[in-house]
Amino acid sequence: MQLLPANRESISKAVKALSDGLLVAFPTETVYGLGANALDTAALERLYAAKGRPTNHPVIVHISSADKMSQWASVVPPAARLLAEKLWPGPLTIILPKADHVPEQLTGGQASVGLRVPSHPVALSLLQAFEGGVAAPSANKFGKLSPTSAEDVVQGFDVNEIAVILDGGPCEVGIESTIVDFSTEIPRILRPGMILPEQIEAIVKQAGAHLYHPGFTEPAKTIASKVSTPTTGPTTEKADPAKVQQTRAPGMLASHYAPSTPLTIIDTAKLQASLEELLKQGKRLCVLSWHKRTRTDLPWITAPSEPETYARQLYRSLRSLDRENADLIVVESVPATEAWSGIADRLQRASVPANDPQE
Ligand code: TXA
Ligand code: MG
Repeated sequence: MQLLPANRESISKAVKALSDGLLVAFPTETVYGLGANALDTAALERLYAAKGRPTNHPVIVHISSADKMSQWASVVPPAARLLAEKLWPGPLTIILPKADHVPEQLTGGQASVGLRVPSHPVALSLLQAFEGGVAAPSANKFGKLSPTSAEDVVQGFDVNEIAVILDGGPCEVGIESTIVDFSTEIPRILRPGMILPEQIEAIVKQAGAHLYHPGFTEPAKTIASKVSTPTTGPTTEKADPAKVQQTRAPGMLASHYAPSTPLTIIDTAKLQASLEELLKQGKRLCVLSWHKRTRTDLPWITAPSEPETYARQLYRSLRSLDRENADLIVVESVPATEAWSGIADRLQRASVPANDPQE
């Protein structure tokens, strides 16, 4: 494992490692990724093994520009193309029916592939220099918190698991990309992130399509007739969106992104009383809240008021609270608005104990 400041020389080393079938961790604007040559099946096996990830969980292919989409996808609907043109490079992943040559190891056996052009300059330089696609899940062990610094990556892996870690500083966005699925007729957001859903909806509409919302009743057809329906896909559009989200993308178990300490989300109005009650029960607590620190004896992180800042610091805050060895991390609930939807989603997933997956 070589931890190197990201520069031209270290990026060349990383390219060499990828070409040799080894793993490279690199910064993106969302979280750090653990990359492998997307067309090298032995490297993909190494990637799944290092991550401890079941092989039916698809990984995202990172590419250097939108014009490479058609190298990976058999169909690129106009709305997906417009979304890519408007929002890439950026924290957006687009799921499309996969091209025939795309290995199933990459797609978890599904007929679709996830593509993303990240905006972090180090990620872009790496992708341009490597030329091929880089398969990269977040650079954490399966089910753990995503890394937002090179140091987080170092701490998460054994020395021989990763060849090169490029240090590009802390991640700007802080939570994973928004995922939009175009592999079925009606595109839908599979994982919210920091791009506003209404912004995605407006672009999709501009291209003459509609984004899924819970009122739809049409069956979910795949857009390419030669592409078989994913075995894990929903059969009707009526299904509960939360459920659909879990079945469509097997990587998104309810218990993803969890700290080791159990985490509970408490409404603002009940926070004070709940804290008192839990303390009375003898629980050792630590807190992430907008409330001013009321108990100086508790590890307490004051939450940022803007969603962008909250997201940027979220995983770092949870990692730091996790190190307190408390019985419970108490997080004050966030507003139920679109701007907070990505953060609410990650908190929700973090609130399920890691050893109790609720798929
Ligand atoms: O921001 C991000 O997306 C980061 C950085 C490194 O780019 N990557 C990331 O990867 O979060 P990962 O593997 O931790 O999460 C990707 C999610 C998984 O839940 C996976 O199931 C889903 O994307 N996914 C990938 N390909 C898919 C596909 N073809 N169909 C459905 N879901 C897919
Ligand atoms: Mg992940």
